[in-house]
Amino acid sequence: MGGQFGFLVNQITFKPKPLPSDLQLDKQTALVTGSNVGIGLECARQLASHGISRIVLAVRTLTKGESAKSELAKSAPKCDIEVWQLDLESFETTGHETNVQVNHLGTALLSLLLLPALQSNAKKLGVSGRLTFASSEVHFWTPFKEQSAPNILARMDEESSFGPSMERYNTSKLLNVFWFRELAARVDAGEVIVNGANPGFCASELHRHDSSPLFQILNKLLAWTPEQGAYFFLDAAVTKKEASHGAYIQEQKITEPSALVLSPKGKEIQKRLWAETLELLKKACLGASLDEAIASLKAESTP
Ligand SMILES: NC(=O)c1ccc[n+]([C@@H]2O[C@H](COP(=O)([O-])OP(=O)(O)OC[C@H]3O[C@@H](n4cnc5c(N)ncnc54)[C@H](OP(=O)(O)O)[C@@H]3O)[C@@H](O)[C@H]2O)c1
Repeated sequence: MGGQFGFLVNQITFKPKPLPSDLQLDKQTALVTGSNVGIGLECARQLASHGISRIVLAVRTLTKGESAKSELAKSAPKCDIEVWQLDLESFETTGHETNVQVNHLGTALLSLLLLPALQSNAKKLGVSGRLTFASSEVHFWTPFKEQSAPNILARMDEESSFGPSMERYNTSKLLNVFWFRELAARVDAGEVIVNGANPGFCASELHRHDSSPLFQILNKLLAWTPEQGAYFFLDAAVTKKEASHGAYIQEQKITEPSALVLSPKGKEIQKRLWAETLELLKKACLGASLDEAIASLKAESTP
């Protein structure tokens, strides 16, 4: 159910499930972005509680990451916890709108740069690596007016396209869905399982700037806790297997993404966006790592 009514029903009726209590993740490593707070921190905490050997907290602000590490270490003294700085806004591009930069371009670049390590580990260990994107139901809710522009990303950098309220955030989450589907089509699931999970509406720091009374009421009545939000990402990143490659996962089930994504027009947008994104990333991030990642991809996609 992708509509706003369906969203309300799901928030009220669905009961998110944690990872199985007997699951052990020893000898495994996870890198969790945005893990100093909110759902990311909860993901790290739950992975540690399942005995994962190593966690990389990839955070924008190192001091916040160090505080999160100290807190996690109290309950998981055996886990090797590292803090790495990751600012998804920091690579050498100028002029990109922030939602597009952080949720799409920065995230797309990170996903490419992680691929070679995930692939080589998969070959060594004979087990697929995992790449799970933080997706959202709001990708259904955008008119995505920029879709017909000759260059979608260039149009999205023009202020006249930003749209009201949350529209741009919603569109950036749609770009994310296009990106992870195309990436999955170009990567072998036997090496890396790529998927995207919607954590529903969670009372994290994400909505910290919305103090409207309606929002406060919805937050109180409907929102899941960050702990529950983490159940969704970990279900996608740990429990779901090869069948979830390229899939959008909602309420812990593989679910169809928006009608636009599945339509012939959506398939064309997906390829166009892929090409535009690679072009921008190549211009902004000259370097062997990106070239190596791109070289490891399959040439043609069949989503
Ligand atoms: N909460 C929801 O209802 C909901 C619903 C659907 C999808 N999601 C998605 O789930 C993910 C986690 O959301 P959340 O609710 O846990 O949000 P949150 O509590 O606001 O946490 C966001 C995290 O992302 C980090 N971050 C922000 N900008 C960054 C940048 N430029 N580079 C690197 N890190 C950056 C923040 O770091 P700082 O502490 O330094 O700001 C923070 O650690 C997001 O992708 C969100 O879109 C959330």
